[in-house]
Amino acid sequence: MRKKIVAGNWKMNMLQDEASQLVNDIIKEVKSTNDAITNEQEIIIIPPFPWIPDAVKQVDGYDNISVGAQNSYHEPRGAFTGEVSPEMIKSTGAEYIIVGHSERRSYFNESNEFLKQKVNAVLEAQLTPIFCCGEPLETRESNKQNELIEKQIQESLFHLNKEQISNLIIAYEPVWAIGTGKTATPEQAQEMHHFIRQLIAKKYGDTVAENIVLLYGGSCKPNNAVELFSKNDVDGGLIGGASLKAKDFIEIVQSFN
Ligand code: PGA
Repeated sequence: MRKKIVAGNWKMNMLQDEASQLVNDIIKEVKSTNDAITNEQEIIIIPPFPWIPDAVKQVDGYDNISVGAQNSYHEPRGAFTGEVSPEMIKSTGAEYIIVGHSERRSYFNESNEFLKQKVNAVLEAQLTPIFCCGEPLETRESNKQNELIEKQIQESLFHLNKEQISNLIIAYEPVWAIGTGKTATPEQAQEMHHFIRQLIAKKYGDTVAENIVLLYGGSCKPNNAVELFSKNDVDGGLIGGASLKAKDFIEIVQSFN
C-alpha cells in the first residue's frame, strides 16, 4: 500500500521564532488530535534552509513527522557561493528535497535538463526528491497539459533506473492553482495523476507505478482536501499557504478517509 503523505512547503516565510513556534504547534496538534496520523501516513515539514536543523531536533522522536528542504544545488561541494548541497541538507537530518517547484522553474529559469541534474544529486545523497511538475494556465486552456507533463517527467526523470525512480515522490502542481485560491477539481487532479501513473507504468512497469507516491499541490485547503484525497491516484498533498497554520495543516493531514 502506498504511503499517504502531506508535505508543508513554507516557501520564504517565517522568522526563527515563528518557525519553531509553528513546528511546536504542529506537534501539539498531532498529539491533541487522536489518530491525527496513522502508521501509513507521513507529515513532511519543509521550512526555509536556516530553520531546518531546529525543525529536525523538534520532531525527533515523532516517527511520522520528517523534515525536508525546498531546493538544493546539484554539486556536492565547491566554489558555488550561496548554494546549498544535498549532502549538507542530509547532514542536518532532513530527508527530502523539493526539486523543480514551479516558482524555481519560472523565477530562476530552472530547465528540465538542470532539474535532471538536481534529481541525480539528491538521489546520490540518498535523500528523497519531491519532484514537481505542472502546467501553466495557457497550456491547460489549450488542452496541452498532458504533453507538457510528459515532457517534464521524461526530460528530468526517465534516465533513472527502476530503483532510483522508486525512491522519488512526484507532486503534480498546476501552476494556475498555486497560491491563487483556484484548485484543480478532484476529477482534474485524478485524471492527471492517473496519466502520470500510466507514464511510469509504460516506462518502468506496473509494480513501480503502483508504488510511486503522487501528491497534489495548488490551493489545497482543509475544505477541499477530503475530496481531493479521496481520489484513487492522489496519495496526499504538497501544501503551501495552508501549511503555515498548524490547525489547517493538521486538518488536511486528517483528510484521508
Ligand atoms: P499553495 O502552494 O498551497 O499555496 O497553492 C502549493 C505549493 O506551491 O507547493
